[in-house]
Amino acid sequence: MTGTLAERPNTEALHYPMSRGGCPFDPPAALQELRETEPISRVRIWDGSTPWLITRHEDARAVLADQRFSADFRKDGYPPTSPGQKVRRAKVRSFISMDDPEHARYRKMLISEFTVKHTESLRPMITEVVGELLDTMAAGPKPVDLVQAFTLPLPSMVICRMLGVPYSDHAFFQRISAKLLNNTTAPQEALAATDELSDYLLKLVHAKDADPRDDLTSRLVLRRMRTGEIDADELVAMLNLLLIAGHETTANQLALGTLTLLQHPEQADELRTTDDPALVGGAVEELLRLLTIVHSGRRRVATEDVEIGGVTIRAGDGVVVAGEVANRDPQAFDDPDELNIHRSARHHVAFGFGVHQCLGQPLARLELQIAYPALLRRFPDLAVTEKVEDLPFRDEMLVYGLHELPVTW
Ligand code: HEM
Repeated sequence: MTGTLAERPNTEALHYPMSRGGCPFDPPAALQELRETEPISRVRIWDGSTPWLITRHEDARAVLADQRFSADFRKDGYPPTSPGQKVRRAKVRSFISMDDPEHARYRKMLISEFTVKHTESLRPMITEVVGELLDTMAAGPKPVDLVQAFTLPLPSMVICRMLGVPYSDHAFFQRISAKLLNNTTAPQEALAATDELSDYLLKLVHAKDADPRDDLTSRLVLRRMRTGEIDADELVAMLNLLLIAGHETTANQLALGTLTLLQHPEQADELRTTDDPALVGGAVEELLRLLTIVHSGRRRVATEDVEIGGVTIRAGDGVVVAGEVANRDPQAFDDPDELNIHRSARHHVAFGFGVHQCLGQPLARLELQIAYPALLRRFPDLAVTEKVEDLPFRDEMLVYGLHELPVTW
């Protein structure tokens, strides 16, 4: 190696993302190595550009908290995740790709819907949905795919009820999400899927305008659209983000987390038998940290020269924050590669950090805190029917996890 990666010519930058290879629960070994040897280094992405890769926990939080790093994909130097994402984001601009004050304007309209207090009021509904899904699973044949039977329907039903989207349309929006979150989807296909979803959501907005109900979409129509604060297209962009972010993430965290717990039967037993909400909450944080399913790197571009961890990142340089490896940083977590549901993991960056930190995190936490123990209690003998190495992990997707998880009991 000649000098640090920062000094190496761009042609020598490693390709990112790297394949996981080895253990499907761990980030790629090359990423872990970079964090130890050259924690801020250039990598080469699909479009040939060479953004900086940030791998240490402290540096990850510094970048994500610093508004001199922009989330606006339209700015020169922004490193898009895939060709499909590039065209999709240009078509539907939601606040995840905006900077303050524009970003804050939209986010504020939703904050009251995602407070811990408001989310807690959904506990009875979520508990009921979990119970119904588990009843159906128990009454059905086995083995069964846990993703289709439980981990995907749960967050899909919950977000549908929140938004006032008919759950009977789940096959439609799950198909669209699967396309939009796949790094290999061709731009034309991504555009067509984006249009299809926008048309669907526009119809929903008009339906709520004609007949408002007690749901988030109707409240936004009544309080924001009819007052002229936002128009129908802006509302569609917000709903688009909520619908997709609201089900794929939690579904995969639940599936991969269950598989992880089944690999650690003693900790799964503790979770099954405890009545201590603090232990359940801690276990959920630890699984979020260890698995960091949003594994495609938080993407930003510097708007000014900024020094991070001793490296000067120039205005116009792209930046990729690799949360999955920052969450394994030994400087931030002891024995970071081990699952330990008793540790305090709450400072992880699985929900991001800074102004774009996940808006839906209270909802995701609540769903996971209810779902893991309920599943383990209902099926104490739950077991995966395939070898781990034969399971279909979601390497090609923006959100990591499992396409299928065949289980029996
Ligand atoms: C385990 C589940 C989840 C994980 C791991 C997760 C992860 C993340 C991450 C890493 C970000 C930061 C993006 C960035 O910095 O560029 C984010 C943002 C966001 N998430 Fe989540 N998420 C989850 C569940 C949810 C749910 C259930 C919803 C809502 C219904 C949601 C809605 C959002 C929204 C709206 C943003 C954008 C926030 C902003 O830009 O201000 N997420 N999420």
